[in-house]
Amino acid sequence: MKEKLEQIRQAALERIAASDALESLNEIRVAYLGKKGELTSVLKSMKEVSAEERPRVGQMVNETRAVIEAKLEETKARLAKKAREEKLKKEVIDVTLPAKKNHVGHKHPNMIALEEVERIFVGMGYEVVEGPEVEYDYYNFEALNIPKGHPARDEQDTFYIDDRILLRSQTSPVQVRTMEKSKPPIRIIAPGRVFRSDEVDATHSPSFHQIEGLVIDKHITFADLKGTLEVFAKELFGEDTRVKFRPHHFPFTEPSAEVDVSCFKCHGKGCRFCKGSGWIEILGCGMVHPNVLRMCNIDPEEYSGFAFGVGLERIALLKYEIDDMRLLYENDIRFLKQF
Ligand code: DAH
Repeated sequence: MKEKLEQIRQAALERIAASDALESLNEIRVAYLGKKGELTSVLKSMKEVSAEERPRVGQMVNETRAVIEAKLEETKARLAKKAREEKLKKEVIDVTLPAKKNHVGHKHPNMIALEEVERIFVGMGYEVVEGPEVEYDYYNFEALNIPKGHPARDEQDTFYIDDRILLRSQTSPVQVRTMEKSKPPIRIIAPGRVFRSDEVDATHSPSFHQIEGLVIDKHITFADLKGTLEVFAKELFGEDTRVKFRPHHFPFTEPSAEVDVSCFKCHGKGCRFCKGSGWIEILGCGMVHPNVLRMCNIDPEEYSGFAFGVGLERIALLKYEIDDMRLLYENDIRFLKQF
């Protein structure tokens, strides 16, 4: 029995010493110490040993197990350390390699232009509000003094969800929503996306953006409108910009006007940019129509106000001298990165 144990011990230790991978250590453990392992089978044959001998043999079996186990553990630790070192050596970082570039996003020219417009109006005490893109016909047309059958509806043909609900064709419905909700004095701008069933070309898109403006208070006159828009134009296009109001018609304002600014490229001499006229049209505006005020439960005898609507893309195209609106929607990084 003693020799048998000595043999087992010898063989096990040799195999352990010869193994160079963690997996083979496990095989050795199973082969010698496992349930069907060699040492276990010795234990099973203990009944053949005489009663006096049994404790001594038992002790020897335990010693052998302990020796093999200790060797296994020690070798396992050594192999694991070696494997870790090799892994570290293999994965060493070459600090001389060029770093990976981090591509940080970039603001869209529309967004840069919008933030500029917001900065100007917030500076004059305006609040920035928003309205829904899916809108009721009532807010988009009816409450803006554009009843069913009014020709102004044809100019702003849009996408209908059903006969009551549509994609808003202008940001003007936010005027109505604001007046319904709050009491004068009101001073807001409302930027947002609008929709029209237009064909795509260099100056049209079925989806674009507007910024609406509305001021309602006691004693607001056309002079306030002119002063406000002049400050806006000078801030946006430069101190020497001149402003021209041309009479126009909008159903929700009376009187109404379109506003031109002197061409910031040629300063009014006439160039390719302003198509030789020296002026560039930038927005529509006017004094809020009494019918609109009444429909919003504001007494036109007590309050008056002005409104205006600017095309955001138009501002961005002018400011950055882009001559095709489609470039703003194609999201070509090489184009967007220039601003
Ligand atoms: N909503 C008009 C449009 O889309 C623009 C506009 C004109 C807005 C005059 C106004 C305004 O608030 O007073 O053509």
